[in-house]
Amino acid sequence: IDDIHAWRRKRRSIAFQRKPLLLRRMSQACRDRLVRTPTVIVMVGLPARGKTYISKKLARYLHWIGIKTKVFNVGEYRRDAVKVYEGKDFFDPDNAEAVAVRNICAQQALEDMCSFLSDEGEVAIFDATNTTCERRRLIHDYCTQTFCFRVFFVESICDSQEIIEANIKEVKLKSPDYKQMPATAAVDDFLSRIALYEKCYEPIDDKVKEKNYSFIKLFNCGERFLVHKIGGHIQSRVVYFLMNIHVLPRTIYITRHGESELNMQQRIGGDPPLSVRGRVYADALAQYVAKGNQNFLFLIKSVNRDYILENIPDLIVWTSQMQRTIQTAAKINAPKEQWKALNEINAGICEGLTYLEIAERFPEEFASRDQSKYFYRYPGGESYQDLVARLEPVIMELERAENVLVVCHQAVARCILAYFLDKNADDLPYTKVPLHTLIKLTPLAYGCKLEYVPLHVDAANTHRDKPQNCQLNRTLEHAIGEFMATADEQHNNEGIQNEVFYCGTTYSPEIRNDNQQFCDLQE
Ligand code: ATP
Ligand code: F6P
Repeated sequence: IDDIHAWRRKRRSIAFQRKPLLLRRMSQACRDRLVRTPTVIVMVGLPARGKTYISKKLARYLHWIGIKTKVFNVGEYRRDAVKVYEGKDFFDPDNAEAVAVRNICAQQALEDMCSFLSDEGEVAIFDATNTTCERRRLIHDYCTQTFCFRVFFVESICDSQEIIEANIKEVKLKSPDYKQMPATAAVDDFLSRIALYEKCYEPIDDKVKEKNYSFIKLFNCGERFLVHKIGGHIQSRVVYFLMNIHVLPRTIYITRHGESELNMQQRIGGDPPLSVRGRVYADALAQYVAKGNQNFLFLIKSVNRDYILENIPDLIVWTSQMQRTIQTAAKINAPKEQWKALNEINAGICEGLTYLEIAERFPEEFASRDQSKYFYRYPGGESYQDLVARLEPVIMELERAENVLVVCHQAVARCILAYFLDKNADDLPYTKVPLHTLIKLTPLAYGCKLEYVPLHVDAANTHRDKPQNCQLNRTLEHAIGEFMATADEQHNNEGIQNEVFYCGTTYSPEIRNDNQQFCDLQE
């Protein structure tokens, strides 16, 4: 316990240096509460009920729609303070010393969270079990009375033993807590840990003691919901999001249309048909999907290695309303749906021009876009920020769907990828999405697996990196130089060879290589 006090003193001394500023901001926050009221989302529920899963996913969504959000996971504070996990007894509510340590960790996380919200944050997610009325009252009163924040509870209730055991095997065995323990002992320890929490668990009392709180209760992974006293647009967006997500395993495929006639001429926008190579890609894509659907183990010979396609049961295909995506999907044997929201970014007065022509005719516009690509709006057209707003219903529908192939466009694909990969506004518009490459996203418990599958049909390069010099007085060569040098290289997906990345996972997939049977990730 002395060590924990020392740990807390150290963390507080850092916070203390910022305190006068914080106090000023705190009272400012109270004055401004009608203008900008930060929201605290407090997770509630027994272990292995998906609280961290929900927290991370929600934070990613809120970040994508432009809300500054951060997750405060009390488990991470505990691991930082205590270092070594010595077994379930630490979670026994009768273990007074451990209870004191856990309370100190929770208090520290709470203070850090309030300082984040007083500073720049708009939403903070307090990820802990928060299983007693007393703990919830403390959090609620601290956040509303000291800081004037809004508080919203999200309680996950699950009584399916099957789901709980699957959750333990999927994520808990990979936790640093169990790094040194054999898998079966770790499962037993975790089940006992749950039993210890059950001794003092009080679900949110919607009838009497906690009836004034705002909250949502989720039962058995979204089988049923109870929504109570929703306040404000953030809470209603959170509720809407939570009512749309599911945990079924699935894959999302994203591809740009095949090369178009305007791509070949380096022109942006318009509604052109596919080029000859674009039509070859459309055939290759249809073949890839058809083989997958018919349960074939289909071997594609690629330049560097061979790879096998997996099944894609019940695939649905979404395209934009532009002819290049419709033609790309035409030969795919699966139900198709056209979305206007998937149309490419509208480049306004620059539609149909090359980058060189834009730099020559509208140098100020061209430089402004390079300086702030995400926020820049083409005169008479759209910005990436506008595109994200337009794509929100698509993301919500993607959350509800299972296996989907989205055939879209460069800017649209960047926005969709940014949602799954949690990219920030600076990086989003520069994400590489080459033509004739299928991108495969497999959602995992705390993140996403990303694979690039080039189908090896040559195409023009349409990617332009952020130039070194974004000033208006730069030369034309500086504004456009690098792009002109690479635009003629027709092997635009050559550099991407079946690359696999893991995004947003807290624990490394390698952490339990002694327990292959539980580590689906390793496969
Ligand atoms: P702990 O209290 O130990 O930190 P936790 O409640 O945060 O546990 P997670 O680590 O988030 O639990 O568990 C992740 C698993 O929960 C994933 O396998 C995910 O599929 C599953 N899951 C997601 N949502 C729910 C839900 N609403 N109910 C039950 N399980 C869920
Ligand atoms: O039991 C899971 C866990 O995430 C621990 O890692 C963490 O120490 C604890 O919950 C935090 O919750 P509580 O506030 O109940 O101690």
